Amino acid sequence: MSLERPDEHDHAGWMEQKELTPIESTYLTVLMWLDKRLRIVDYLEVLENLYYKVNLQMPKSHTEQYNLDNKFWYWYPLYALGSFSTIAYVVAALSGALLGFYYAPSTAGDPSAAYNALTMIMTDLNFGFFLRSLHRWAAQVMTAAVFLHMLRVYFTGAYKEPRELNWILGIVLISLTMVFGYTGYLLTWDQLAYWAGQIGVEMSLSIPLIGEWVAQLIFGGFALGQATLMRMYLLHVFLLPFVVTSLIAVHIGIVWMQGIAEPH
Ligand code: HEM
Repeated sequence: MSLERPDEHDHAGWMEQKELTPIESTYLTVLMWLDKRLRIVDYLEVLENLYYKVNLQMPKSHTEQYNLDNKFWYWYPLYALGSFSTIAYVVAALSGALLGFYYAPSTAGDPSAAYNALTMIMTDLNFGFFLRSLHRWAAQVMTAAVFLHMLRVYFTGAYKEPRELNWILGIVLISLTMVFGYTGYLLTWDQLAYWAGQIGVEMSLSIPLIGEWVAQLIFGGFALGQATLMRMYLLHVFLLPFVVTSLIAVHIGIVWMQGIAEPH
């Protein structure tokens, strides 16, 4: 359907001349109402032009260049690892949001409130055991998938020009995936979490010159406590989800613009 506007001020007249189904006329009425106020059709055209401009500038893939119909490598299971990482991330994000309804980032008293919240989730909450397992498994599957995806990209040479930027973005993503895992690991506030946190503090302190400052910033001091748990919680449920979701969107956006690299 063309979105041309024959007469800018006669939307209604134009609609009457056509035989439209109720769904079409509702869609057009809404579109015209918005267009009259926000000129969205113009912006859609600008986006469309940009899309074609960007795509025309990109180097042709092997498949396009030689006009190959057989795109069998798109179906190599190893080429699905990036999507697999994305799906694992979405599952982790959704199950994590649900866990967030019941978790409390507090070390008040002994044993701590955070630990008690998890005990409650595991023993009292309906499907709580399942929810927590789903979150932990999704996180571990994501870490493994991201690592294998990186190996796939490396061994097929897909990091080469013009895809260097996405490789570098990938390095940032795999690092943030590990920070996600570490901050989540500390949230249980059990013995494993506590000592993993202690190792983190000592690793920070071993950095020359700025070690103490780094430990203060990341762990809230040299001994683990409420400040540590709060920092891990905010990183894990607030900062990282925004940053990682945006970076994954940019990463996949670049793949969309450049096309998948075939093996060299
Ligand atoms: C959160 C982590 C990541 C997600 C969700 C993700 C997602 C994706 C997806 C969906 C693709 C499309 C092709 C495919 O699936 O193989 C892709 C391609 C790519 N990824 Fe990732 N990725 C991640 C991490 C990484 C890492 C760690 C690297 C490398 C250091 C990397 C480098 C690349 C490159 C260079 C491409 C283009 C490959 C090609 O054109 O064949 N990505 N990524």
